[in-house]
Amino acid sequence: MLEYSMQQFRERHDVFLAQYLDQSGPATRLHEAMQYSALLGGKRVRPFLVYAVGDMLGAALPDLDAPAVAVECIHAYSLIHDDLPAMDDDALRRGHPTCHIRFDEATAILAGDALQTAAFELLAKHPFVHVTPERQLNMIQSLAHASGSQGMCGGQALDIAATGQSISLAKLEQIHQLKTGALIRAAVRLGALTAPKSDQATQASLDIWADAIGLAFQVQDDILDVTSDTATLGKSQGSDQALEKSTYPQHLGLDGARQHLAELREKALQALSGITYNTQLLADFTNYLATRDR
Ligand code: IPE
Ligand code: IPE
Ligand code: MG
Ligand code: MG
Ligand code: MG
Repeated sequence: MLEYSMQQFRERHDVFLAQYLDQSGPATRLHEAMQYSALLGGKRVRPFLVYAVGDMLGAALPDLDAPAVAVECIHAYSLIHDDLPAMDDDALRRGHPTCHIRFDEATAILAGDALQTAAFELLAKHPFVHVTPERQLNMIQSLAHASGSQGMCGGQALDIAATGQSISLAKLEQIHQLKTGALIRAAVRLGALTAPKSDQATQASLDIWADAIGLAFQVQDDILDVTSDTATLGKSQGSDQALEKSTYPQHLGLDGARQHLAELREKALQALSGITYNTQLLADFTNYLATRDR
């Protein structure tokens, strides 16, 4: 069931994204770099969240395409910039040379910039069927807030400042919540905002769930950086240690990080139990996130 839904949503997302990126612009090389980084590989975790949450709450699938692709565009841009020499300086992403290696640094910076603005263009111009203009505006604002200095960019800035430093566990949690959790929370929010009826109580439970899985996602990312291998990950294993990054395994040890992940998974499942819709798919996805191997 989970595997089938993940594949269906991935395919739907990829068709819509490819169509959007197919409109060629005047700068061919920039355009190629955007297609290269956004279309080649990736688990599509964030689009899945938009589709799965929206679908659960009764949203129309065509209304979910734009928010799903918008969140993934922000994510793809964040990865291109995260890999740049000035940031994590990584050479491999999704099993391919990183954007700045395959193209060049200037093109990679611009591809990230353009994917970021694409996200907002998509949300602003989508012919929504059941989404009111007020909700559409709310979606744009939610995604912008989650992506900017109060969200992902803020987290990336704190991550860089914490590199090579000894920081508290509370600080580490804040970094992870911002650099990764904020966008995951936004994906869940956008899914809910696309559904004509989504009540306050359900929204509140979904927020708690999203916070728990967002943090769990980055804890597992940190664990995999230690325990997995480059071929499976499609990105350089051991990159965190090489850069002296502040991570959960570095802070709590591998067993401590795994224990923390298990607690977050419990917290997430607990949040779902208070929701009156059918949360089976979200529960299965929670378990997948905590046990994924790439
Ligand atoms: C990697 O995200 C970066 C983090 C925020 C941890 P993903 O693990 O979702 O990367 P892709 O999209 O599957 O390549
Ligand atoms: C990435 O964290 C967070 C964002 C891209 C916003 P990482 O630096 O741990 O991601 P990977 O491991 O390079 O994918
Ligand atoms: Mg990073
Ligand atoms: Mg990185
Ligand atoms: Mg990582």
